[in-house]
Amino acid sequence: QNCNIGFVGLGVMGKNLALNLADHGYRVAGFDLDANKIQDVLDTEERERPDTKKEARIIGCSNMENMLSNLAKPRVVVVLVPAGQPVDIVCNNLIKAGIESDDIVVDCGNSQWTDTIRREAEYKDYFKFFGTAVSGGEVGARFGPSLMPGGDADSWKHLQPMWEAVAAKVDENGKPIISNTPGKPVTEGEPCTAYLGPNGAGHYVKMVHNGIEYADMQLICEAYHLLRSLLGYEPEEIGKLFAQWNQGELDSYLVEITADILQQYDAATGAPLVDMILDSAGQKGTGRWTSISATQMGVPAGIISESVYARALSTLTTEREHAAGILTAEVESGEIAAEDVEKAIEEALYCAKICAYAQGFQIMRAAEKEYDWTFNFSDIAKIWRGGCIIRASFLQRIADAFDGNRELENLLLNDYFADTMAKKQAGLRKAVVLAAQSGVPTPAFFSALAYFDGYRSEVLPANLLQAQRDYFGAHTYERVDGEPGQKYHTFWQEEGRPERKV
Ligand code: 6PG
Repeated sequence: QNCNIGFVGLGVMGKNLALNLADHGYRVAGFDLDANKIQDVLDTEERERPDTKKEARIIGCSNMENMLSNLAKPRVVVVLVPAGQPVDIVCNNLIKAGIESDDIVVDCGNSQWTDTIRREAEYKDYFKFFGTAVSGGEVGARFGPSLMPGGDADSWKHLQPMWEAVAAKVDENGKPIISNTPGKPVTEGEPCTAYLGPNGAGHYVKMVHNGIEYADMQLICEAYHLLRSLLGYEPEEIGKLFAQWNQGELDSYLVEITADILQQYDAATGAPLVDMILDSAGQKGTGRWTSISATQMGVPAGIISESVYARALSTLTTEREHAAGILTAEVESGEIAAEDVEKAIEEALYCAKICAYAQGFQIMRAAEKEYDWTFNFSDIAKIWRGGCIIRASFLQRIADAFDGNRELENLLLNDYFADTMAKKQAGLRKAVVLAAQSGVPTPAFFSALAYFDGYRSEVLPANLLQAQRDYFGAHTYERVDGEPGQKYHTFWQEEGRPERKV
């Protein structure tokens, strides 16, 4: 019973997280239904262990009973299997294998938050079910992910030292401290993990992270598409431009990898590698869940939703091919200075990014009420500064904004962001105009501008909309000069159109 933590599921994420824990001195008991995966993690640990005489920190277990018998109590078991039914199958098998009510089972998959809420209640007589979402892909899991824990506070106290050890770290300026060398983990700096709240809070925050990730990625793709279509730039040229942008306010992991991707060539054909990749985007659901959750709570999150739809539209490859032969764009072409276009697109990307993050944080603010959570928005921004896919220096600005005012209604209202939108919105407007004139689809840019203009409008045509609703369905309306909450109905078909209080 000398292992600190058990693992069920030693696929890429499970294996790398187990190796990360071992690097930090924790002893891991690992189990997987596939014996090859167990062997693989043991072989990797042996290969990577700097001192071959040192004792192995990961042991392989042939079944769950064996894994449990190797763990110190209360036992902590990390489950890293595909989200959905497999998590429940593992939970039930752990019960059969003798897990106890004080033990903690941690779901580290991309589970839907509603499942986490349900599971915590459903398994409470058998063990403590705890959620921890992991971001950062396989490299993050191996050398420092962003960890988003949610569950009961006592379990968190038990998990906290381990989670803080393996999480990504940032320095005093909020910049990630990176060491991708096995056996030499980063031990200093602020860890990218913080307790986010009970039951499904961690998985919810991760889902919103992914919704923002979808928007971030789509916006970068639209910037690339515009540069290519308007200026005729080759991918390599755009990659270099992105690398340059990455030195400024747009500094982020996603811009960095995009710059790298665009400068690669296909070994077989010599063509830019990006041109050899089919333009049909996959998705596993987290962006869609974010959009659905926002819609259900009535939160305007159009940029995130448009990013989900853009992926859906991209998959209509045969239909698009067919339509391309029928539907034409009547476009305007004119001389545009490349420098101006580049500047406009760079500004557009930053403005739209601000709007997308504003939407993401609005979704979480609404979820607080819906699920009775209390989020620390500064902590959320801080734990996204390192390790995760949307890591960016920009997140420090968000943390500062919420540190300054926890009740900030919308990120756009923070001085820095309001000022940036004032200074750079011309670029977003120009990019949208150019896209419209030249027929380049940029739904996320359009949506960002519409959100900004809608949010800053004191008057919207929703008065007319209310009149329409009242006209055809007697849905009533409030008057600008009436008591708040007092409803009125106009008898639109009657002589003199009489209005009555309802
Ligand atoms: C992360 C990523 C990770 C994964 C997404 C991608 O934070 O590490 O978000 O969770 O890459 O699930 O999802 P799609 O397949 O839907 O793009």
